[in-house]
Amino acid sequence: MKKMIKNGVIVTATDQYAADLLIENGKIAKIGVQLDDAVDEVIDAKGNYLFPGGIDPHTHLDMPFGGTVTADDFETGTIAAAFGGTTTVIDFCLTNKGEALQNAIQAWHEKSKDKAVIDYGFHLMIGEVNDAVLAEIPAVIEREGITSFKVFMAYKNVFQADDATLFRTLLTAKEHGALVMVHAENGDVIDYLVSEALEKGHTEPIYHALTRPPEVEGEATGRAAALTGLANSQLYVVHVSCAEAANKIAEARQKGFQVWGETCPQYLLLDQNDLEKPDFEGAKYVWSPPLREKWNQDVLWDALKNGQLQTIGSDQCSFNFNGQKDLGKDDFTKIPNGGPIIEDRFSLLFSEGVKKGRISIHQFVDLVSTRSAKLFGLFPQKGTIAVGSDADLVIFDPDRERTISAETHHMNVDYSAFEGMKVTGEPISVLSRGEFVVRDGEFTGEPGRGQYMKRSRYNSAQARQATPVQ
Ligand code: URP
Ligand code: ZN
Ligand code: ZN
Ligand code: ZN
Repeated sequence: MKKMIKNGVIVTATDQYAADLLIENGKIAKIGVQLDDAVDEVIDAKGNYLFPGGIDPHTHLDMPFGGTVTADDFETGTIAAAFGGTTTVIDFCLTNKGEALQNAIQAWHEKSKDKAVIDYGFHLMIGEVNDAVLAEIPAVIEREGITSFKVFMAYKNVFQADDATLFRTLLTAKEHGALVMVHAENGDVIDYLVSEALEKGHTEPIYHALTRPPEVEGEATGRAAALTGLANSQLYVVHVSCAEAANKIAEARQKGFQVWGETCPQYLLLDQNDLEKPDFEGAKYVWSPPLREKWNQDVLWDALKNGQLQTIGSDQCSFNFNGQKDLGKDDFTKIPNGGPIIEDRFSLLFSEGVKKGRISIHQFVDLVSTRSAKLFGLFPQKGTIAVGSDADLVIFDPDRERTISAETHHMNVDYSAFEGMKVTGEPISVLSRGEFVVRDGEFTGEPGRGQYMKRSRYNSAQARQATPVQ
C-alpha cells in the first residue's frame, strides 16, 4: 500500500517547504517536488501544514491514584491523543517497593497491549535502589528499551523517594545511559504544611495550592539539579510550573549540567485563581505542582522561547468531576491530582504559542515532538519528517477554529479545564505509521494497533542539538 500526500507544506523543527511525500510500508519513502510515483491513494493537503506526529512525553493512562483509577485508559486516552495530533505517548509505569520491576512493566504491557491506537513507550518509576533493583536495570534498558527513570520527590508515604535514592538513580542512569526524570516538589515540607492547614480547618481546593508554594518546587528542582551535577548525570524535570523552578533549571544549564525541563499547557494558560471557583469547581484545577499566580505564565513562555525549557507534556491524568474529584469534597488532600489534556496539548500550543507570536512554528514542532524524540531515544524514527522515518504525520489546518468542550472532546471524562476556550489551528487527519487513525475528523484507527516502542539509550549529543530560535 503506497500513499502520496500532495500539496502540503512540510514543517519540521528546522525547515518549512512545500513538497509531496510518498509513504510506503508505514515509512516516509520519498520527499520531493511534484512526485509522480504510482500509488494506491493520493491525499490532497492543499492549504495545510504537515507536521511530524506529536510525542507526548508525559501521560498517566489507567493509573491508580488516591484510591481511584484515571478515567482514561490506553484506549480512550490514545484515541483522544490521536484526535489531538499526538502519535506517540510515553506513559509512566508505576512500581511497588519490594516487588520486581519486571512485574510492574508486565502490568503496564497488559494495560496497553490490546488498547493503544498509537505507538507508546514507558518510563519506569524508581522508588528504591537496592541490589535487586540494580540487578534488573540492564534488562530493563536492553530488553524493554526503557531508557528513562522517574523519581518522585513528593507524595510522601505514597511515591516519594529519598535523596539517596535519587542520587543512586542518577549514578545508575549515568552508567547505563538513561535519563532521570523528577517530580520536583519537597514532599516533606508539603506534608507539614498540609497537616497545619487541616488542623486549622482549611479544607477547600485552594489549600492544595497554598500548601505547595513555589518555594518547595524551586527548592526540589535546585536540589535535583545539584545532585545531577555531582553525579555528572542527566536530568529531566517534569511539569515545571513556576519561575522558581524555571530559574533553577536555567542556572544548572548555565553551569553546563545536562538538565532539561518540561512544562504543560495548564501552567501556561491557567492560574491559581481557578482553584477558587465556587461549588467545589476548583477541584477541576488541582494539579501537582499547583497552578500558580498568573505572572508565572510569562516566565514559562519566555523560557520556552529562549530554550530554557525544552518540551511540552500533557501530564494527562484524568479524573471525573462527579465521582472522582469529589472524593475530596470535604478535604482537599483527597482530591485526585491531575487533569484531562492529552487531546488539546498540540492545538493549545499552536494556537496560544505560534498564532500569538510567542514561539516560532519550528519551536512548536520541537516542543511538541522533536525534542522529546531526541531526549527519549526515539529519533529519527519518530519526531521528524524525513525519508526513512515512520510516517507519523499530522495534516493540520492552521486556520480552522474550534471551541474546546467536554461535549465534543474524546477523552473519557466529564469536564474540560479549558471549557469554552477557542483555539485556532486543528489536526484534520492524523497518520500513524502510514495508516490514518483520524481522517477528516473521524476516528479510523483500531485499538491494539499501537506498537510498544523500545527506546535507545540517552544520547547527550543528540539531546543537545541546538533548539531552533526563529
Ligand atoms: O497532578 C498531577 N500532576 N498528577 C499526575 C501525577 C504527577 O504528579 O505527575
Ligand atoms: Zn508529577
Ligand atoms: Zn504526571
Ligand atoms: Zn473499544
